[in-house]
Amino acid sequence: MSLQKMTTKKIIEKKQKGEKIVTITAYDYSIAKIVDECGFDLILVGDSLSQVILGHENTLGVTIEEMIHHTKAVSRGVSNALLVGDMPFLSYKIDVRDAVYNAGRFIQEGGAEAVKVEGGTEILPTIKAIIDADIEVMGHIGLTPQKVYRFGGHLVQGKTLDAAKKLIMDAINLQNAGVFSIVLEGIPWQIAKLVTSTIDIPTIGIGAGQYCDGQIIIIYDMLGIFTEFKPKFVKHFGKVGENIRNALNAYKDEIIGSKYPDLDHSYSYPTEDLSEINEWFESADVKEEATKLKEKLT
Ligand code: KIV
Repeated sequence: MSLQKMTTKKIIEKKQKGEKIVTITAYDYSIAKIVDECGFDLILVGDSLSQVILGHENTLGVTIEEMIHHTKAVSRGVSNALLVGDMPFLSYKIDVRDAVYNAGRFIQEGGAEAVKVEGGTEILPTIKAIIDADIEVMGHIGLTPQKVYRFGGHLVQGKTLDAAKKLIMDAINLQNAGVFSIVLEGIPWQIAKLVTSTIDIPTIGIGAGQYCDGQIIIIYDMLGIFTEFKPKFVKHFGKVGENIRNALNAYKDEIIGSKYPDLDHSYSYPTEDLSEINEWFESADVKEEATKLKEKLT
């Protein structure tokens, strides 16, 4: 398969052509390389890293340094997909200047091509300032996990008339501010459908039904690795967690049973004749020779 470098412009064109946009998260080099080779349009180094990689309870635990560290690793594995860095909690809502600087770090240090920020109309000045600094921005509205304590949990949003109206207006305002796409997370599919038909830029859904222009999911969820908690929208497309467990148990059993490593997985001394080393080993006081070597070299 010959793959082409994806850009924000091409992502927008996919919506115009009615082509679905296929996206996913990644957090490390090896997985990012596999995802990229599979021809995904966009890879997000999501702040979900906080839970699935670092083991925090929610996304609030991950720092900008940790996000940039992982974005760098992912960027080394990505050649074709558009790489987006997710701006973590505290990195863009305190001060607009800090937000622009931190967004710039994702590009300059992390190797990302765009950043994602959570929030609607209330963060337009920040979004505009980041875009004014020539940094591409992806929006994210609905169940924005950085607001978990304000929402009182990871709860589906946009379920009242006012909340649904706000989502539609937020999407229009984000589009007008210049974002190239918007993640719609944890909202009723009917509202996601309305948002998608209202704006010209793509909507990327997660827990927002099938009418979005594209979909995103946390890779550890869809692979069946992270199984501590399974929201309704998560589908396990693989049993990788189970495969890992089986492989680890097989490895453990083979070590205990002295089956691994066998000769096929061992290096051999270059000569078949081991008499020289055996003679030395039997005649010398090996411990004394080791002490002499230590004294000589230290
Ligand atoms: O952090 C993340 O992984 C995300 C996506 C699920 C949209 O924000």
